[in-house]
Amino acid sequence: MKTAVLISGNGSNLQVLIDRAAVDLPIDICAVISSKADAFGLQRAQRAGIPAWVLSPADYPSRDACDAALAERIEQSGAELIVLAGFMRVLTPGFVQRFQGRILNIHPSLLPRYRGLNPHRQVLENGDSKHGASVHFVTEELDGGPVVMQQSLSVHADETEPELATRVQSIEHAIYPEAIRLFASGRLAMRNGKAWLDGKELTIPPGIEKP
Ligand code: GRF
Repeated sequence: MKTAVLISGNGSNLQVLIDRAAVDLPIDICAVISSKADAFGLQRAQRAGIPAWVLSPADYPSRDACDAALAERIEQSGAELIVLAGFMRVLTPGFVQRFQGRILNIHPSLLPRYRGLNPHRQVLENGDSKHGASVHFVTEELDGGPVVMQQSLSVHADETEPELATRVQSIEHAIYPEAIRLFASGRLAMRNGKAWLDGKELTIPPGIEKP
């Protein structure tokens, strides 16, 4: 399945997808688009020979204009799936509607808990014992679309924010390819604002074995 990956930074999730696509993941990454010119992920794309572009909001008069250019670029690439991998922009409703049910995101928390920024800090401040990562379909609501896969971990006593972030990221690297595999093989879909796996509504999102 032709896939566009949208990034803004390091691109470690992008790297996992590049590596897995070369082995056992049925996707063809046909475009990498970054909202930031200095994103390290652009170098990862270049090294892998994947066409990459920078689309910086600062170059457009409005968010709508920026997202129209983004949509144009994605359609030209032929992508059927859009994967957000550390893409630090909120997409406009027009963009989300245009690609409804074809955009996935990964978020470092057990959604619906801790949407938005700084989830690790909030987990530690609140003394939560469980934390994790979620893959979800993108809707107009920030980090609010139906969850399709989730994996949790136990928060260690005295764990620092960077330590927790590193452990959560290794969960991301494990679950994102698996969720994308389900979508690319036609088993996972979004209909009526809900996620469906093998034709059944997903009420409890599946996880995978701890990496
Ligand atoms: C990940 O933690 C992801 O959950 C969040 O941004 C981070 C991106 O990391 N949305 P990377 O650029 O893939 O290394």
